[in-house]
Amino acid sequence: MAPRKIIIDTDPGQDDAVAILLALASPEEIEVLGITAVAGNVPLELTAKNARIVCELADHTHIPVYAGCDRPLNRELVTAEHVHGKTGLDGPVLPDPQMPLVDGHAVDFIIETLRVHESGTVTLCPLGPLTNIATAFQKAPDIVDRVQEIVLMGGAYFEVGNITPAAEFNIYVDPEAAEVVFNSGAHIVVMPLDVTHDALVTQQRNEAFRALNSKVGHAVAEMTDFFERFDKEKYGSEGAPLHDPCVTAYLIRPDLFSGRHINVQIETQSELTMGMTVADWWRVTKHPPNAMFMGEVDAEGFFALLTERLARL
Ligand code: RIB
Ligand code: CA
Repeated sequence: MAPRKIIIDTDPGQDDAVAILLALASPEEIEVLGITAVAGNVPLELTAKNARIVCELADHTHIPVYAGCDRPLNRELVTAEHVHGKTGLDGPVLPDPQMPLVDGHAVDFIIETLRVHESGTVTLCPLGPLTNIATAFQKAPDIVDRVQEIVLMGGAYFEVGNITPAAEFNIYVDPEAAEVVFNSGAHIVVMPLDVTHDALVTQQRNEAFRALNSKVGHAVAEMTDFFERFDKEKYGSEGAPLHDPCVTAYLIRPDLFSGRHINVQIETQSELTMGMTVADWWRVTKHPPNAMFMGEVDAEGFFALLTERLARL
């Protein structure tokens, strides 16, 4: 089977970095057409820099990296240095990137790529706020039907919020963008906190990264060692939740995940619940399903896949 063509839209972010590495390590299943940076965990200048740092860490400097939107559609940017550190990629000491950004805006790259490739053959993989994706859909409505699928990390239902009591960070930062995407009619697969909070880098799993005894293995171990502090302190977790790698793992092994095709709507009015993903898990409304909302992951299988693939880099 031909590899799946994807665009990774991202706000690295240690977990974004691991998601990108997993994709780059899996050429049989995934062809990364490009990486588009968006403001989120840290400002755009840093997410665009970190995306290139990760490509160079994987020795994949041929991957085109574009800078995208530097703020949400209608709101001030909220960042997450308290989770990811000042650089957004705290933990390992990695060299500044030598590879340049590709000229042009990420939104235009998304639009052109979807227009150039055969309809239904390009998957969008947003790992941060949905600002770039929503802006592309608003600027070029014709591309929505050309999207094969959107597989995104964002939202929560049973787990509720990680940045507010009600909202998950990616959706909270740009709820209006999320509303555009979830109402677009595109096929959407959602990896919410309900799933990603089970993908924890326990000490044993972290040691398995180190045991790879490679620059990638050590970097991932150091990233997750840093990144785990927030969740350990807040939730008493056993380790860092690998939110974004659930997206790229799904492309390789969808059988590791299970969920329900349900209606998901985004709160954009109430400041109290702004950015909440109101997931009709129990199908109590008559709203038509618009997303495959994941609820469970085989964590052992996920980490076995991730560790095996990271060993390739
Ligand atoms: O809430 C988790 C999400 O927010 C992840 O994508 C993490 O990288 C941050 O962007
Ligand atoms: Ca992210």
